[in-house]
Amino acid sequence: MADKAASPNGSYNDNGFEFFKGLVEPDTINALLNMTEQVAGNSPSTFRGIIRKSTLTNKLIYVLQGTNFVPLDTFHWGLTPFISRVVGKPVLPAYSNFRIYQQGDVCKIHSDRVASEHGISLMIGSSDNKPWGLSVGHEFIEDPMNWRGTGKVKTACDDFGDEPFSTFEMYPGDAVLYQAINRRHGRLEPNPNRWTAHLFMFWVDRNGPRKDQAFDKKRHPASANYTF
Ligand SMILES: [Fe+2]
Repeated sequence: MADKAASPNGSYNDNGFEFFKGLVEPDTINALLNMTEQVAGNSPSTFRGIIRKSTLTNKLIYVLQGTNFVPLDTFHWGLTPFISRVVGKPVLPAYSNFRIYQQGDVCKIHSDRVASEHGISLMIGSSDNKPWGLSVGHEFIEDPMNWRGTGKVKTACDDFGDEPFSTFEMYPGDAVLYQAINRRHGRLEPNPNRWTAHLFMFWVDRNGPRKDQAFDKKRHPASANYTF
């Protein structure tokens, strides 16, 4: 059973998603965003990650993998006890990435890859402080590769079709936790800000069928050793 203090609405396990208003305070996300900007760049000529258009977006996005910038990975790992309390069982971090979306872009409705059992979308900055909604579907998709038994993948859609969904208007510091493999999600309305910055972080159940996806399948040594 999820800890109600960790899960203010107590709804994650019931609904498959939960909104956390102001999960991270402004000073901390400002520090993280500014550190990322200084180290990884902020323009096409300076950015050290990838600038690409994905199948889910209409415009170019900046993408930086957590494994390529240790502070992002470390922030992700630090949230793990909180996620375990909300989920009600131990989880391990899988992977994370940082993205910048530009004005007018959307994120088409989709579900995430197998390492994404529990995912958080955390907004860590925006140019204009205008809310941008993240929507999550109400239908539990047992097998994303076989949507409603059709044998088809229902992804990169412009809308939810006949599926009910909830939309959470997000400002910097706000987060949505969702079952990212089994709940379709996306941003239906164009981004009203000149840019927004986001951290996407994913976990798997420590003792579940996807536990091999922990740490993005990278094995860490069992123990450290120091000598003088
Ligand atoms: Fe996603």
